[in-house]
Amino acid sequence: MSANLNIIGVLTSGGDAPGMNAAIRAVTRAAIGQGIRVKAIYRGYKGLIDGEVKEFTSQDVSGIIQRGGTILKSARCTEFQTKEGREQAYQTILREQIDALVVIGGDGTFTGGRLFAQEYDIPVIGMPGTIDNDLWGTDATIGYDTSLSTITECIDKLRDTATSHERIFLVEVMGRDAGFLTLNAAIAGGCEAAIIPERATVMEQIEDAIGNGRRKSKNSSIVLVQEHAVEGGANAVAKMIEKEHPEYSTRVTVLGHLQRGGSPTAYDRILASRMGVAAIQALMDGQRNVMVGIQNDDIVLVPLSKAIHQKKDVKEDKWQAMLTLSI
Ligand code: F6P
Repeated sequence: MSANLNIIGVLTSGGDAPGMNAAIRAVTRAAIGQGIRVKAIYRGYKGLIDGEVKEFTSQDVSGIIQRGGTILKSARCTEFQTKEGREQAYQTILREQIDALVVIGGDGTFTGGRLFAQEYDIPVIGMPGTIDNDLWGTDATIGYDTSLSTITECIDKLRDTATSHERIFLVEVMGRDAGFLTLNAAIAGGCEAAIIPERATVMEQIEDAIGNGRRKSKNSSIVLVQEHAVEGGANAVAKMIEKEHPEYSTRVTVLGHLQRGGSPTAYDRILASRMGVAAIQALMDGQRNVMVGIQNDDIVLVPLSKAIHQKKDVKEDKWQAMLTLSI
């Protein structure tokens, strides 16, 4: 064990994601297995500021690998964005004698963690936990696979009613600024179009997809709309379609936070478990301010700055596949 690594802190922050519990379990057990004590921090950075800390044993993470959400709770903490907030958080670090932090979350979590690490010279390891899959340097984030399956299941159900009533369904999908969930769900759900921020999709393209579908064999369509791709979301797209084509009957479904819930898939549980073990190994190797990622099924370490700032683009072949197969 590294001389300065007696106690680690672990927290989940930002939007929860299925598999976060598996990640907490893995970090806790991997650390304890190496003789490192684990202090669980509740409610993300808010708990770090307020000193909401409890030492975990291996038993504290029993029976949670299959559970969605996060047993540590999560929060979006604006206080941690201030110098005063981070200073208070550092007082907790000193009081609890925490030598390093493992932070599980997305972009905002890593941005805060990186700043904190720089200001107070504390090693921080990030584990990507977000349904959005928008972090550079990792093929997948914990929670993404589960969310994608949930969305696909919803599309399958909507397909039944869309076909029966010969309607166009506009389905709003989460993703913050990224279209990974939307595009992949569109392929998996056999959707007629996907509107994502990474590709400027003009109204004519949607019309093409819907028109082609209707002219040929289909009497209904499902169009996925990434939540921030169009001002006003899926409702706005429905209005546009109805204005141009009053003959079409449209319905809007906003999937919302259903996309964040549920038991994690086997893929997410395994990913979280591998990443948790790797996070502890990274700390023991003296790594700091890196994210544990996965590339071609290999665990990698990526500087937090790159994970946050470099842009991960959607794969062009996926976009083409969606367009090609939507007719
Ligand atoms: O980052 C995860 C996410 O679910 C995004 O897809 C979405 O834009 C956002 O969080 C919603 O956040 P909140 O739950 O705070 O409304």
